[in-house]
Amino acid sequence: MSGRKILVALTGAGISAESGFRTFRDSGGLWEQYSVEDVASIQGWYRNPKLMTDFYNDLRRQLEHAQPNEGHKVLAELEEYFDVRIITQNVDNLHEKAGSHNILHLHGELTKARPVNDDRESKIVDIGYRAMEYGEKNADGETMRPHIVWFGEAVPAITEAARLVRSADIFAVIGSSLVVYPAAGLIHDLRGGTKSYLIDPAEVDVPGWLNFRVIREPASTGVAKMRDELLREYANA
Ligand code: APR
Repeated sequence: MSGRKILVALTGAGISAESGFRTFRDSGGLWEQYSVEDVASIQGWYRNPKLMTDFYNDLRRQLEHAQPNEGHKVLAELEEYFDVRIITQNVDNLHEKAGSHNILHLHGELTKARPVNDDRESKIVDIGYRAMEYGEKNADGETMRPHIVWFGEAVPAITEAARLVRSADIFAVIGSSLVVYPAAGLIHDLRGGTKSYLIDPAEVDVPGWLNFRVIREPASTGVAKMRDELLREYANA
């Protein structure tokens, strides 16, 4: 292959569904059990930080034993052929577990924590899979919270994500309903003519003029189908 093409994948909850993580908005999804306001908004944190701490402790505990599925794995394998950049809305680490190397987490990471009043990169720490104590402090005496971007908060990584999308030769949305902004708006940063895929078992609204090749399948088979098509088209280029 002459010159590696840049493949940018925007992934959402759907890519982790077959690894046992519930999506947010499907029926049976997380938001049927909890309200967004209670467990995923900054106002929820002000109201009931204990509930939020417990909620993310539960998710983190589940994550320890969760395994990447074929969707994550095939994306990792594609690094052999393409310069793969993943932008994920997921707070799990299943892309990492699958072996992908370039992963931008738009909405934070379950295995990290940061001070409540400081979201600078240098203050974010790895906590692995351990439970956080409500009100726990770091060595500087600052109260810590999960490193998750909640509704009502800025998305600091969005500028870098937009730059990545603009650099894409090939683009794929995998398992995202594209209803949550600013992530959903990233498709408007695509350069005209970028070969684009949408992989999702359900219908997702995207503007017709972007010419997405829609693969209406779960990630486990859909990403493999995309791989086969891409290798047919580019492997001998
Ligand atoms: N493979 C691929 N896609 C799937 C699968 C699967 N096996 N199962 C479900 N899906 C699709 C659904 O059809 C839906 O379009 O995954 C999508 C999940 O959409 P959402 O639940 O809205 O998740 P997401 O788009 O990631 O949400 C964005 O919103 O709730 C916040 O911060 C949270 O990061 C999340 C953001």
